[in-house]
Amino acid sequence: MDVNTEDILTQSFDVLVIGAGGAGLRAAIESRSRGLSTAVICKSLYGKAHTVMAEGGVAAALGNVYSEDNWKVHFRDTVRGGKMLNNWRMAQLHAQEAPDRVLELEAWGALFDRTDDGRILQRDFGGHRYARLAHVGDRTGLEMIRTLQNKATSVGIEVFMEHKILRILVDASGNACGALGYTRPSGQFVLFKAKAIVLATGGIGRSWKYTSNSWESTGDGHALAFSAGADMIDMECVQFHPTGMVWPLSVRGLLVTEGVRGDGGALLNSENQRFMFNYIPEMFRAETAETEEEADRWYEDHASARRTPDLLPRDEVARAINAEVKAGRGSPHGGVFLDIASRRTPEYIKRRLPSMYSQFLELAGVDITQEPMEVGPTCHYMMGGVRVDADTAATTVPGLFAAGEVAGGMHGANRLGGNSLSDLIVFGRRAGIGAADYAEGLAGTVDPEVSQATETAKEALAPFSRETGESPYRIHADLQECMQTLVGIIRTESELLQALDEISKLKERASKASVQGGREYNPAWNLATDLPSMLAVSEMVTRGALDRKESRGGHTRDDYPSPDPEFAKVNLVQRMQDGTHTVQPEPLPEMPEELKALFEDDHTGQAPKEDH
Ligand code: FUM
Repeated sequence: MDVNTEDILTQSFDVLVIGAGGAGLRAAIESRSRGLSTAVICKSLYGKAHTVMAEGGVAAALGNVYSEDNWKVHFRDTVRGGKMLNNWRMAQLHAQEAPDRVLELEAWGALFDRTDDGRILQRDFGGHRYARLAHVGDRTGLEMIRTLQNKATSVGIEVFMEHKILRILVDASGNACGALGYTRPSGQFVLFKAKAIVLATGGIGRSWKYTSNSWESTGDGHALAFSAGADMIDMECVQFHPTGMVWPLSVRGLLVTEGVRGDGGALLNSENQRFMFNYIPEMFRAETAETEEEADRWYEDHASARRTPDLLPRDEVARAINAEVKAGRGSPHGGVFLDIASRRTPEYIKRRLPSMYSQFLELAGVDITQEPMEVGPTCHYMMGGVRVDADTAATTVPGLFAAGEVAGGMHGANRLGGNSLSDLIVFGRRAGIGAADYAEGLAGTVDPEVSQATETAKEALAPFSRETGESPYRIHADLQECMQTLVGIIRTESELLQALDEISKLKERASKASVQGGREYNPAWNLATDLPSMLAVSEMVTRGALDRKESRGGHTRDDYPSPDPEFAKVNLVQRMQDGTHTVQPEPLPEMPEELKALFEDDHTGQAPKEDH
């Protein structure tokens, strides 16, 4: 099917933001507030970005509940949780700036839960030394999006809802200068010309069978950046959140917030044992309670006692649940139990965790104020992503910026809960500034090559002209099965090689897929245009996982079960070089001595003081 330039609408902006979650909206607010024309593209409806699914809270060392908390403790928790693979500068900026960004949200109208004396209340989460998550019950992401959306609308951004971007256009010098997409209601192609582009497209979870991610999370931004020539880092580092629903099957993977454990819930196996006491790693031993009595005292009086192991970082808890299930001590539907009913009053549970209460009651017929939940690991978050400059969010492609989940580096090999919402607002703002500075520095207009746009549109329409190809739904289901079974929570070389082989066959099948009907609201066609992103990202994850011959954070190799200190010194960088996909180790930026010193008293269980 031929596509002419007349078939493509054109729009021009100074800054184009792809993604309308927390990072995209925060970037757009910044750029538009500087007077630049700014458009936001959402794949879904405005206000329905995946950020609304973030439940437990936004991490910021406000010190409202524990005055000892400060950015240095938050920085140290984040880098230890990330197993030392984090970009130190991103982790530093994040810890330093998160409190201001949260207070800014409050000034813009976010209604956080309050302490008795009227300040923002903070709750406990895994791997955070102090109660640090500002929250709105268990609906924090929703409140953030509501607030950012009101602010963005008030500054005057333009919004393009239900648009899918297919390609970032680059000029002859390799600068990003536009994007080609289509709108789902009509199938109309649109060429967005822009001086600067911010990718804020979120995650990749839809390539796995069990995921907490919503339908939009097909790794579009990761794939767009890669094919535009950007460096990608540590793509093997995928997080499996320890607690997703395991039953009923129709909602398997749906998030069960860590806030349940933060507010007193405990994990139990089928023998009614609090098994997490058997899985305390050396790195966290000094500050983790060793008995149930000690852990429960911590829940009542945090400052003086060691933390419960139920709140170890997510990678540790997910692996422990996996091991319990494998050892035959799982729950009836292949998870473990999470009990808050016997530990907190029904009134407390309903007030603190209203979404969890109704989610389990409505979807599983389980009253969590009376009985335990069944939970198990679910693909939740991508730590790897586009390589960015920490201060400006610039990628290695001039004119292209990235923030939030699509950007790599901030969370190392494992993200702490609550650090994603703060990442979105800290680096969303920085990406907005970076893009605005870049756009202001460009003289004249940008002029993407129209042939790149027409070629891309033609490729996207190809499934309509194939009469006999396979359904994209079958290919997607097979990809999810492949990633779930071969590139899941525990990996081995032979399975990863098998996955690579299957992904290459799936690519071949996708290139011959066929769809029926017209372009208007055609979900099969929409999925056919998502498949290339999912396949590209799945290949990057698998290649990275093959090359990282060690276990670190979210990446666990059964055949290399320990961390290898040499791998702590490098990012695994993937890029397209002269048509060849390469993976190579490159040194991590060196952490300055004063930050390294924060890790020196690790073994004592002491937290750094502000004047450390
Ligand atoms: O468990 C949760 O509420 C998820 C939060 C997060 O991933 O940061």
